[in-house]
Amino acid sequence: MMHLQSKHLLGIRDLPKSDITIILEWAAHFKEIINRPIKKVPTLRDTTIANIFFENSTRTRLSFELAQKRLSADVVNFSAASSSVKKGETLIDTVNNILAMKVDMVVMRHSEPGAARFLAENVDSRVINAGDGTHEHPTQALLDAFSLQEKLGDLKGKHIAIVGDITHSRVALSNIHCLKKLGAMVRVCGPTTLIPKYIDSLGVEVSNNLDETLEWCDAVNMLRIQMERQTDANFPSLRDYMLKFQLNAERLSQLKKELVILHPGPINRGVEITSQVADSDQSVILEQVENGVAVRMAVIFLLAQGMSRS
Ligand code: CP
Repeated sequence: MMHLQSKHLLGIRDLPKSDITIILEWAAHFKEIINRPIKKVPTLRDTTIANIFFENSTRTRLSFELAQKRLSADVVNFSAASSSVKKGETLIDTVNNILAMKVDMVVMRHSEPGAARFLAENVDSRVINAGDGTHEHPTQALLDAFSLQEKLGDLKGKHIAIVGDITHSRVALSNIHCLKKLGAMVRVCGPTTLIPKYIDSLGVEVSNNLDETLEWCDAVNMLRIQMERQTDANFPSLRDYMLKFQLNAERLSQLKKELVILHPGPINRGVEITSQVADSDQSVILEQVENGVAVRMAVIFLLAQGMSRS
């Protein structure tokens, strides 16, 4: 069996391409399993995993928990909102208390960029980053790549656009690293104020024109505006943003091709994407959610294999 070089999954930037390929291959295997009448395998019967979420989540949290249960792991869930973090406990104390209960793996979402790496450096446990502030969201990028491969095959040379609030998006950053490693051509599109200046150094194209970008791409990943992370007025008004950057049926009807349309969720229907488009045949949004379980099963399974070897 092929093994991961990585001990943790902290981000895509430092993940070897060979690890990405192994994860995506195993995800295909697990997708087949979760579509069987009996969806559960006994693989991780002796493994205990803690999901600790210091930020809100619907998809990622449920998806990790389902992936862990499909692998027969024991699962404990921790939510900062109802914990002693509210009484001033530090991150490292919180996690060490959880690990003292003999937890093998921690899945963590946190608002601070670098929180997952900090955790991995300070605890004796496998760590999976479920999103750290505006930094990385590696399992989202892996499930997006898996969903794209299902529709487009090998991503080498394929044109993938990421549209919206790039500056505040960990999904954008992880997607860029992942798609570039898989050989895709990547373009980001949005208002100049929502595209970070360092983006050129990542080897991506930059555009402020959605119609021209839609002509260029094979697939488009639509991002929401992260209102909770905006500190300045980055665009004149929501109406102005929608006029320039909303994916709607009128824009798609100008094209002489079909696109693969992704969205990581949560969707702000009627802002970055209309309901008509989000629910259309070109949209793979719910397939992304299904694939998320298979990809997370692959990540957890492969990191647990590494535990038994070390
Ligand atoms: N895509 C994503 O991370 O969604 P949640 O914030 O609901 O987990």
